[in-house]
Amino acid sequence: MKFLLRLLILSIVMPVEAAGQEFVLKDSCPPSFELRDSGCYLVSRYQFYDSLQNRGVGGTQTGLPEYRDGFSPQQIDLGRYLFFDPILSRDGSLSCASCHQPDKGFSDGQARSIGIDGQVTRRGAPSLWNVAFLKRLFWDARADSLEEQALGPLFAPDEMANTPLQLMQAMESSEHYPALFAQAYPQTAEPLSLENLTHALAAFQSSLVSLNSRYDRYALGHHQALSEEEIAGMNVYRSFVARCAECHTPPLFTNQQVAVIGSPEPEGLPLDVGAEKTFNAAKLKGGFKVPSLRNIVRTAPYMHSGRFDSLREAVEFYTKGRGHAVPDGVQMQIHWHIWEPQLTEQEIDDIVTFLDALTDESLMPSIPGRLPSGLAAVHDNSNNKHNPPREHSDE
Ligand code: HEC
Ligand code: HEC
Repeated sequence: MKFLLRLLILSIVMPVEAAGQEFVLKDSCPPSFELRDSGCYLVSRYQFYDSLQNRGVGGTQTGLPEYRDGFSPQQIDLGRYLFFDPILSRDGSLSCASCHQPDKGFSDGQARSIGIDGQVTRRGAPSLWNVAFLKRLFWDARADSLEEQALGPLFAPDEMANTPLQLMQAMESSEHYPALFAQAYPQTAEPLSLENLTHALAAFQSSLVSLNSRYDRYALGHHQALSEEEIAGMNVYRSFVARCAECHTPPLFTNQQVAVIGSPEPEGLPLDVGAEKTFNAAKLKGGFKVPSLRNIVRTAPYMHSGRFDSLREAVEFYTKGRGHAVPDGVQMQIHWHIWEPQLTEQEIDDIVTFLDALTDESLMPSIPGRLPSGLAAVHDNSNNKHNPPREHSDE
């Protein structure tokens, strides 16, 4: 109701702007994508490396895993509008970008994200950079595709709290969306559908590629791209002592597996069993998907429920002893790569310095200045009155 009222007010207050310009979706691909047969295909120097040839796991010349591309320019552009549009939430207060903010590595700076009416969710928002490469989504790996994933936040009562019926009614009665869906899905009998909506969101998210960091330039042969300290950090990171690269494996800095590392919950919170529930397997109690470390300096706080405020604390966790944070009486089968590397303070600092070299936001999409719903684009926490942005002092 509140939401319909908002739409009504907006259409009264801004008749000129809403009625004035028509929306036309882009017909060219985002940078680093090449248009072929009306689909956008990724172009990356990593494609010269063949992942099937074993050049040593975690080596600088490992190729890319399979990924999603081939979406049309119009589908990607429609997804961009949808991603920033609070029309997707029940009361028009939250967009996907409320919790996946471009200037925070597509995370939100919160330990655990805050949904509609200030409800604190169970976990932190992962970065969306390079989600095109991920086979399984969510910290506990419970979704197999971006389309399946999107149904989670849209309809979860503590996130956007919408219903399929109300969502589709809002889209249909919006001024511009029906025409835009027809532009993006011209071959479909019913272009404006929930299926195409989640498909367009997947198309947009698949364009968030980050493979041009200073690390990548180094990996692709430019030795000068990393400082001596960063190279020292990279060597510790890849060493058989620290073993980071066994799980956070280049080039994505994740091997995409679920691993039990025994990271702690925030003070006072019950244990999150993670992937145990997804796979109904006790040996995965406390197991989470290995997160990518690309753009990691942007996405504090760290771990599934944001227990660590700084990157240094997150790295330090690994030197404090296998299973040191597992609550008393809980049986957890910690992964065999988690041990007691006894890293020196200098080595920890060097790893943290190296992780900064994984930052690349050169393919940052632009935030729409105007939305097809007539609402204002939301890409921070400010629409959510219960959700003051949290300050971080780790840098
Ligand atoms: C209220 C905050 C919030 C909103 C709104 C939200 N998300 Fe998320 N998102 C999260 C959280 C928290 C997680 C992790 C949840 C989990 O793992 O159980 C997540 C996970 C994801 C993932 C999985 C990433 C990975 O590496 O596994 C994707 C993709 C994603 N969200 C996309 C979206 C899209 C698309 C929308 C809009 C339809 C959206 N999110 C809306 C908070 C939010
Ligand atoms: C056995 C596999 C494994 C190894 C080895 C490993 N990690 Fe992790 N790492 C994970 C998993 C799984 C998570 C997510 C755990 C959670 O959220 O509770 C994680 C989380 C992190 C995070 C937080 C990421 C985020 O987005 O919040 C950082 C930073 C990190 N690891 C760095 C390292 C470093 C540095 C090393 C080497 C010292 C290392 N990891 C070794 C599996 C591993």
